[in-house]
Amino acid sequence: MSLAQSEHPKGPLEFSAKAKDEIKHHVAKYPDRRAATLPALYVAQREFGYVSPAAMATVARELDIPETWVREVATWYTMYNKVPVGKYHVQLCGNISCHLTGADKLIHGLSQALGIKPGETSKDGRYTLAEVECLASCGSGPAMQVNDDYHEHLTVEKALKILRDLP
Ligand code: FES
Repeated sequence: MSLAQSEHPKGPLEFSAKAKDEIKHHVAKYPDRRAATLPALYVAQREFGYVSPAAMATVARELDIPETWVREVATWYTMYNKVPVGKYHVQLCGNISCHLTGADKLIHGLSQALGIKPGETSKDGRYTLAEVECLASCGSGPAMQVNDDYHEHLTVEKALKILRDLP
């Protein structure tokens, strides 16, 4: 089981040298280092698999800002995973435009085929299914985001092929 799939240790986490450089680069772009919180949290999510309290504390330490500020941001935005997710985080839009073009059928079909409901991760750790509010792809629904990639105008068959073709 990888670190991303396990609970983070209680002790502090450490960014890699590459991640520290990346965060420094973001900090340098803004007059106030707090503004680098969002990109730094993305770096943390990539490095540690998800944004646990330990990861938030590491971001705060790296940015030299209070941990509370980092927590306020991390817990507000849904794009930061606060619990471990599978290798592929499959987010399905259930909002109105996608609903009108078949989101319910898509969510139900994928749920049945993968054997997991939204909010669950498959036993092999390959997929986490999530129903989300809007993926900003409203004119091309139903839409699905798999990690950082978007897929649009989906049917259950098309979506399953995309998921099964992933390495
Ligand atoms: S309503 Fe589905 S992407 Fe906006």
